[in-house]
Amino acid sequence: MSITQRGEELHFDENQFIVSKTDLKGRITYANDLFIEISGFKEKELIGTPHNILRHPDMPKAIFKLLWDRVQAGKEVFAYVKNRTKNNQYYWVHAYITPIVDTKTNQLIGYHSVRRSPSVKGLEVITPLYKKMINEEARGGVKASSALLENTLSQLKVSYDAFILSHE
Ligand SMILES: Cc1cc2nc3c(=O)[nH]c(=O)nc-3n(C[C@H](O)[C@H](O)[C@H](O)COP(=O)(O)O)c2cc1C
Repeated sequence: MSITQRGEELHFDENQFIVSKTDLKGRITYANDLFIEISGFKEKELIGTPHNILRHPDMPKAIFKLLWDRVQAGKEVFAYVKNRTKNNQYYWVHAYITPIVDTKTNQLIGYHSVRRSPSVKGLEVITPLYKKMINEEARGGVKASSALLENTLSQLKVSYDAFILSHE
């Protein structure tokens, strides 16, 4: 598999996908080979473990709030996420997260995330935005950083999804 390293940052091939599934509480139920390899964890360390095992301190809480609000409402969401590996390296992903619905019962049974390698252009926009959001969170909590995100989007006159997709 093609994972390359530059300093502490890992990159993966743009034609490959990092895939995982979770239960309704965000515990990992499935991870594909690339997920396992890039994370630095063993499969048995991942399965059954909360997905925040990958959480990087540079990630604003408001992004995860938005993510959970969306998927718990049965909607899909796109997000840029910086993940931390077991060896304290990191890698950026452009994630597409969707609810998994049981077709027989029509009930929500879990979540699915498919991640691609983000573009350099996208990261040039997202990295400073997340930094501002983290600073805002330190001062005024998640509410303040959610408001910062909303204000940024309304100034640009775009929805969150359109914003993320325009910076793929
Ligand atoms: C399908 C799915 C995939 C997720 N993928 C990631 C991920 O790659 N990295 C991450 O930090 N959080 C991911 N999360 C969010 C985590 O569940 C968690 O909310 C986040 O790491 C923040 O941790 P906290 O909720 O304990 O504050 C994912 C959630 C779901 C439902």
